[in-house]
Formats: sequence, structure tokens, C-alpha cells
Amino acid sequence: MPGQTWWRTAAIYQIYLRSFADGNGDGVGDLAGLRSRLPYLRDLGVDALWLTPWNVSPMADGGYDVADYRDIDPLFGTLADAEDFLAEAHGFGLKVLVDLVPNHCSDQHPWFRAALAAPPGDPARDRFWFAEGRGPGGDSPPNDWRSYFGGPAWTRVADGQWYLHMFAPQQPELNWEHAGVRAEFEDVLRFWFDRGVDGFRIDVAHGLMKTPGLPDVGADPDPADLPYQDHAGVHEIYRAWRRIADGYPDPRVFVGEVWLPTTAQFVRYLRPDELHSAFNFDFLCCAWEPNAIRKTIDDTVATHHLVGAPPTWVLSNHDTIRHVTRYGREDTTFDLGNRRHGAFTDPVLGRRRARAAALLTLALPGGVYVYQGDELGLAEVEDIPLERIQDPTWERSEHTDRGRDGCRVPLPWSGAEPPFGFSPPGSTAPWLPQPRSWTTLTVEAQETNPSSMLPLYRQALTLRREHLTNLPEDPTWLAGDDGVLAFRRGDTFACVVNFTATPARLPDHEAVLLTSEPLTGGLLPPEAAAWLRL
Ligand code: NOJ
Repeated sequence: MPGQTWWRTAAIYQIYLRSFADGNGDGVGDLAGLRSRLPYLRDLGVDALWLTPWNVSPMADGGYDVADYRDIDPLFGTLADAEDFLAEAHGFGLKVLVDLVPNHCSDQHPWFRAALAAPPGDPARDRFWFAEGRGPGGDSPPNDWRSYFGGPAWTRVADGQWYLHMFAPQQPELNWEHAGVRAEFEDVLRFWFDRGVDGFRIDVAHGLMKTPGLPDVGADPDPADLPYQDHAGVHEIYRAWRRIADGYPDPRVFVGEVWLPTTAQFVRYLRPDELHSAFNFDFLCCAWEPNAIRKTIDDTVATHHLVGAPPTWVLSNHDTIRHVTRYGREDTTFDLGNRRHGAFTDPVLGRRRARAAALLTLALPGGVYVYQGDELGLAEVEDIPLERIQDPTWERSEHTDRGRDGCRVPLPWSGAEPPFGFSPPGSTAPWLPQPRSWTTLTVEAQETNPSSMLPLYRQALTLRREHLTNLPEDPTWLAGDDGVLAFRRGDTFACVVNFTATPARLPDHEAVLLTSEPLTGGLLPPEAAAWLRL
């Protein structure tokens, strides 16, 4: 998609690199595998790719623990492979965003190794958050903060000091008050921009700065006022980054992972001199319920208007429960703190709703994210043997939360049994086991099955690109029956979603462009969506 504002309307496909395609046969996805599948991505009709971290990493958290920000992990390839990939993706008309992990690095990063080798009080420790413990002998952590993965957010080192990590102990928090940390990341941005990266997805964008003194959160903290997130000082960092991105003749962009409880906090990250866009987690977490969905859409559009940023829409990512599963449950919301693993799921209903949700999200204004496997209708894999689980959440939660591996299982491409074309024949088994039942969900199988998920995504993405991206931004709601949401964009296009258990009438229209289920006697069946030309 040419033009300076491609990012305002782009359909961005999220590549979880470890699980997309394995080129070298070691059971882990890599750049060679991704390059071999670029024609698939072009034909799918997406505009851009977002790659989860590809930097050198011990993989304590799937690459979100970076040991060298300027090189590629050997699991994935080399820097030269990355440069070739960027050129090839661009040749296919695809923009490329990559993950940037500025909140923390790996405990194997040279900075942290130097910090550990230095004594307490040494400047080498100032790039991190080292502190004395509390209580007799300093045996208790310096404050009461908890890691997002469970357990205390502090780990003690041999000389008795503690260091802060809001995620795993292998992910020490960087101290963004340190000028050297800021300078380093500005240089890292330029390093990748100069190699053709079109933008960054910023990990934990709300978390970089901490309240001075690192005060306790207490027993009943206000989620909108936590000392480890959304510190006002973070915005200056993004203003500096924006100036760097804007310094390139073709626009380089940022999408923030901004998980915050209030829109007032969220929207500040999207001011015109800060990040270009951010993920819409309110929409991802929203129940599949018409009033809630309508309110979330209205709030999203209104909020983004305040700062002139494009709304975005996302149903799943590598941290969440796949929405085919979520929408088949009684409680269809997503909650980071309680993934409800193993809750009863109706897979037929979940799939039907996921098809409707695809048409809904792809019809809305702004940008949209498709997580790899969404287009295949993959469900959460809930029966990974416990001894195969890799997500640090499992250990950190003392085996109460299986974590995120169930949405990270390697993709099924072809064939009748694992590895389903994920790896070349004769390879090491995939790093997470694939369900045998995926035989009918491979790309190959869906290509010849017109009622499968893949053709729906292909048609919707193609129609979206050709007809929808230039439509007026604001959706206008149409009157309709209870439990049916219908909106138009401009005078020519409408999307209708039937959330009820009975067939629904469609508004007057010239033609039916696409439906998630076949119409029955001109009516929209239960739990289905339609795109109409008015
Ligand atoms: C958010 C990422 O999406 C997640 O996968 C990771 O574990 C944390 N940030 C920590 O980097």
C-alpha cells in the first residue's frame, strides 16, 4: 500500500516468528521459513507484518529477553537474512514492523553482566534498578511489587542487593532515568530504520518509567495510579523517538503495547508528537455481546478522535486466549489476570462467532491486526502436556497458570499429520506439539474448502483493501432489531452482525458483498455477519 499514511488503515499480520514456518528443520520458526511463505502473506491481502522479537536472546520469555538489540538470534538466522527478508517483503509490497523491547533486557545482556560483576553502588548498576532489601539482613525485597508473571518483582544477587524485574528474573528492568539507556535505544531505532524496518511495536510501552523512590503499592492499589506504569515522564521518551522516525523521508511508525485501565491515560500515548497507534485491548477483552461491542467501538472512535490517531482493532495475539476458543465460552471476555484455562468451550459456536468477528473488525475504520492462525480459525491448544510447557508464566505462577503456549503452537501448513509442513520433512519435532486434529485446518486443506476460515479472510482482506480503506472513518449506526448491530461507512457500505439465536433481516441494500455464513431466505443467520453494498 503506497503513500505516507499507509499505517492509518493497514491490515497488519502478526508473525510469532518461532511458530510461523521453520526453514532449517530445527523445529523452530525462522527467517528462512518466513521468507518462503511471503507469497502466502501477499495473497492473504495484508499490508504489513509485525514480527515478534528476532534479536539475540536466551529465550527465557520467547525473545522478550534481549541480549543484543543489533543482531538476529541464530535460531532465526543472521543479520544478512534479516536484510534480505526486509528487501523481499518490500518487494511483495509488505511493510515490516518489528518488536522493540525497551522496558527490560536479558540477564545475559552485556550491561547486566557488567552490573552483576560490579560491586553495589558501582555506576554499572545504574542502568538497572538495584536496591538494598528490607528487614533484618535485607532479606525482604525492597518493595511489595509483584511480577506480572507471578511472585515478587525482585531477585536477590550474591552480594545481597536486589534487582527489579516486572516479568521473569531473566528480564531485568532498565532504568530509563539513565541518559545512557535513552541514547542506546535511540541508536537502536536508527540501526533498524537504516536497514529498512518500517516501524516498531513497542513492548510494555506504558512501563518504562517508575515513580521515584519505588513506593509500595499497598494492599488495595488504584489500577490507574501504579508506581510502575504510566509515569508522566515516559512521554518525553516517545517524543524523542517520534522525532527520529519523522526524520526519515518515508514515514517510520510506532505501535504501542499500552495496557492501561483508563482511556484518559491511554490516549496520551497517541498525541500527534508521540506514538502513531496502539493496540485496542479494550476491544480484544470485550465480551461478544452487542451492547458491549457497540460501546467499545463508539468509545474507541471517540477517544482516537481526540488526538487524531487511527483506531485499531485486534481479536487475539501471542499473549491471549485465541478468540475461537474465547467466543465459544460462557464468559467471552479476556482477562490477562485469569485466562480461564480449560473452561467449557463450544467450538462450533466459537468458530461461528470468530467468522462474524473477522468481518466486523475488518469493516471498522483504522488499522487492524490479524494474529497468525486467526485466518485458519485455530483454537487455543489446551492440552499441551505440562512437561512441554515453555512459557515462564507456568513456573512463576507456581503451576496455577499454564500461560500462553496454547496460542503459540506452530502453524499447520500442509499434510495429514504433524508437523503439517511447518518444518521440512525429516526435521526435529516442532518446539510445541501440534494437535493431530489440525489435519483439516492446514492452509492446504482450507485452500480447497470454500466454507473454511482462510477463504473468508482472503476475500474480506481483498475487499477491504479495494473498497473500504478510503471510506469515511466514522461508522454510522443503523436502526435494527435487538441484538443486531448494523453500521454504514459512507453511503455505499454497511456491515451487519447478528448476535442473536434467530435469523435477522438485512437493511435495504444493492448487493451482498460477503457473509460469514450463507444467508437463509435472504435473512442473516444467528451469530453471523454480512457486508453489504448500499
Ligand atoms: C508483552 C509481550 O507481548 C509478552 O509476550 C512479554 O512476555 C511481555 N511483554 C514482557 O516482555
